[in-house]
Amino acid sequence: MSATPPPAPRHIAFIMDGNGRWAKKRLLPRVAGHASGALQTRKLVKACAQRGIAYVTLYAFSTENWARPADEVSALMALFLKYLRNELPALIDNGVRLRVIGNTSAFSPVLQEAIAHAESQTAHGQRIQVNVCANYGGRDELIQAMQAWMADHPGAPAQALDAQSLSPYLWTGDIPEPDLLVRTGGECRLSNFLLWQSAYTELYFTPTLWPDFNDAALDEALAWYAQRERRFGKTSEQVAMATSSVK
Ligand code: IPE
Ligand code: IPE
Ligand code: MG
Repeated sequence: MSATPPPAPRHIAFIMDGNGRWAKKRLLPRVAGHASGALQTRKLVKACAQRGIAYVTLYAFSTENWARPADEVSALMALFLKYLRNELPALIDNGVRLRVIGNTSAFSPVLQEAIAHAESQTAHGQRIQVNVCANYGGRDELIQAMQAWMADHPGAPAQALDAQSLSPYLWTGDIPEPDLLVRTGGECRLSNFLLWQSAYTELYFTPTLWPDFNDAALDEALAWYAQRERRFGKTSEQVAMATSSVK
């Protein structure tokens, strides 16, 4: 029996890696790679919206990225602030709902203010939801979720906590799990990204560096995804039967 292709993905997550190497290849400072990567991100969000993707999640800055040289960290923060400000009218015009996910309290007050402003101004966007993970770590997210659950259930026995009850406490509690995760830059690891949510996500690793990941590269990733059979622990025969009964 041939594998049953999945429906088109609703949610794609991107680990936007390879900006530094892109710059190095061109003898440019790493920051130039980040600027080029940010331009590519803008195009890619548009391409995702055109392809009917409902949710895009972008890994922009990990909890571990604070360990980079101070000038690179401050350049990344400046780029983030610039994009939040400059892109806001276009985000609103294009029906984008922006969410920033992560521990944003570590950012400067001015950046926190720009995040809150962009989120509230785009809250009614209907076309696509773009989640920017900034100062995000999957482990941090899980720990805060467990702490929040415990605060809401004082004295509850540990056995009362299960996967279903924990999920709403994740920062992504109201967002479907990603169907497809794309990592550019050639590394085959999650680097602390969406550890819980990617349990059954299709993982696509490409050597293409993020600033080079264009619409054609996105279409290649989507074509690869369309060949997957998502079994969620079941057999191929069960998947085929469930799909034919839905039609
Ligand atoms: C990803 O590109 C962007 C961030 C982590 C902010 P990198 O900066 O990690 O690029 P490489 O991996 O050094 O090429
Ligand atoms: C992952 O890339 C984080 C982001 C893309 C924001 P890194 O470049 O930080 O990952 P490692 O250190 O190679 O695992
Ligand atoms: Mg990297």
